Amino acid sequence: MTVIDRKQLEPLKGNNNLINYQETYEQFSWESIEQRFSWHKTGLVNMAYECVDKHVEDGYGEKTGLHYVDGIAEQKYSFKEIKDKTDHIATVLKANGVKKGDFVFIFLPKHPDCYFTMIAAIKLGAIAGPLFEAFMEEAVKDRISDCEGKYLITDSALLKRVPKQELPSLEKIFITDGKERLEDKEILLQNELEKTAIDANILEWVDAEHGLNIHYTSGSTGKPKGIIHAHRAMVHQYQTGKWVLDLKEDDVYWCTAHPGWVTGTVYGIFTPWLNRATIVVNGGRFAASAWYETLEKTKVSVWYSAPTAFRMLMAEGDELQQQYDLSAIRHILSVGEPLNPEVIYWGLDSLGKRIHDTWWMTETGAQLIVNLPSEVIKPGSMGRPFPGIDIAILDNEGVEQPRGTIGHLAIKAPWPGLMKEVWKNKEKHQSYFPFDGWYVSGDLAIQDTDGYIFFQGRSDDMINSSGERIGPFEVESKLIEHPAVAEAGVIGKPDPLRGEIVKAFIILRKGYLASEELLDDIRKFVKTRLAAHSAPREIEIVDELPKTKISGKILRRELKARELEKLQR
Ligand code: PRX
Repeated sequence: MTVIDRKQLEPLKGNNNLINYQETYEQFSWESIEQRFSWHKTGLVNMAYECVDKHVEDGYGEKTGLHYVDGIAEQKYSFKEIKDKTDHIATVLKANGVKKGDFVFIFLPKHPDCYFTMIAAIKLGAIAGPLFEAFMEEAVKDRISDCEGKYLITDSALLKRVPKQELPSLEKIFITDGKERLEDKEILLQNELEKTAIDANILEWVDAEHGLNIHYTSGSTGKPKGIIHAHRAMVHQYQTGKWVLDLKEDDVYWCTAHPGWVTGTVYGIFTPWLNRATIVVNGGRFAASAWYETLEKTKVSVWYSAPTAFRMLMAEGDELQQQYDLSAIRHILSVGEPLNPEVIYWGLDSLGKRIHDTWWMTETGAQLIVNLPSEVIKPGSMGRPFPGIDIAILDNEGVEQPRGTIGHLAIKAPWPGLMKEVWKNKEKHQSYFPFDGWYVSGDLAIQDTDGYIFFQGRSDDMINSSGERIGPFEVESKLIEHPAVAEAGVIGKPDPLRGEIVKAFIILRKGYLASEELLDDIRKFVKTRLAAHSAPREIEIVDELPKTKISGKILRRELKARELEKLQR
């Protein structure tokens, strides 16, 4: 993708929380944001306190904090109810041994229980480990065993995907719904709640650097790595909620991501609740009509989603959309993958709204490059650095490049949202900082003379399909476990709907013959063991794979170049 010279979209008039970007950028200090938190004086820190308990103390206990819809059920919870529920769950967790610094994994669908148990674990100073609801056995096992996790909260349906025998570290499994016969280590959360009185002062204070949550994320090599964030991230998250999401007292806010992904936690829970917004949670899978229904029914005013979702809605046509009253929407944002100008123009034409692209990564803990309501949008650009964020485009030696030159997108470290550590992997953590003081993102970008940044691709082999980060190594490793596969190379192939799809090139073992059935079986093998989004949508059988001469590593770049050439023909 290159810099696209199309019509700029003029700023939104009206009551935006941030009015003058340039001036604010020049005067900004993170210290000034820290001062709004009581811990700045008291030293008593806890993200869960700032997200929930504080609002009750400040007199907003009756305000709706969470509005859940799933097509059949609809539930609303006030901040006071959320405080009581999370205190109660935290009391039960503590009685069962959970303490500061323990990992508590949460494997639940998009349901209030997922949100409440996360906050409850954080109240105890435990590190919450939300797992994506579509993970299959191996993905669940890899994550819990990497942390030697002792505690898991799940429901009876997802429990079937927890390979308990292979997870000796697990001591207690809390089940949020019913189960007829409990097995070893299993506990019904409801039973425990019924026999335990709420301790309204259960919340434990931590320090700002204490571990908050862990998200596993893929790179181009090895298994996914556990990125741990600290409670201090709230400073960054709060302020991006104020200025980028532009949250105000009456907003109803919907982030469509599951908390198993960093967006679903940072912008699905922490940021809106730090800003005391009402969050919408929708159960069930993507369906255009269900999404429009959610927008209409809950009167969403601020909506954060991803390009693939917008493209899917776009593909449904305007006729469907026109059946719904979407007039409550006032602000739309996007993240996770390049936002095509076509989608921005669709937003303008069909919803009458600008879509504001934002850029960040699991490791960065919050948005770093943003489009603000009060500023011009240049379609094709991810926006400009958030105040307090200093970016540069570097060459391979770490030298800053002039405007208009492609290079590595780097950010001056540290900033409050930046990851605390890569779990049990100091070397990986250090690899993000190859040049003195700069975090190097792995993305390639261009900055124009007005400071706008344009995404140009990745500098490594990481795949981004529908905004989900997929490591080719992980998929290749799984593919070669299939008895028919001798070798495998995996790349991201450009796709108009999903940005990229996973494409695998495989060499068959002797004695296996190519057939549609075999390919289907291989696809299912990855899908049912790893996760649906990691399974190759395309598999091509080849006689050989390009490899480096010295180490014999598969040259994914070469595979990709060949594929791109084929597409251009
Ligand atoms: O390549 C960039 C892409 O997603 C990567 C980060 O993925 P993840 O850690 O899963 O976080 C996703 C949500 C925070 C980045 O290195 N990416 C993210 N946002 C954009 C993007 N690519 C283009 N445009 C964006 N707005």
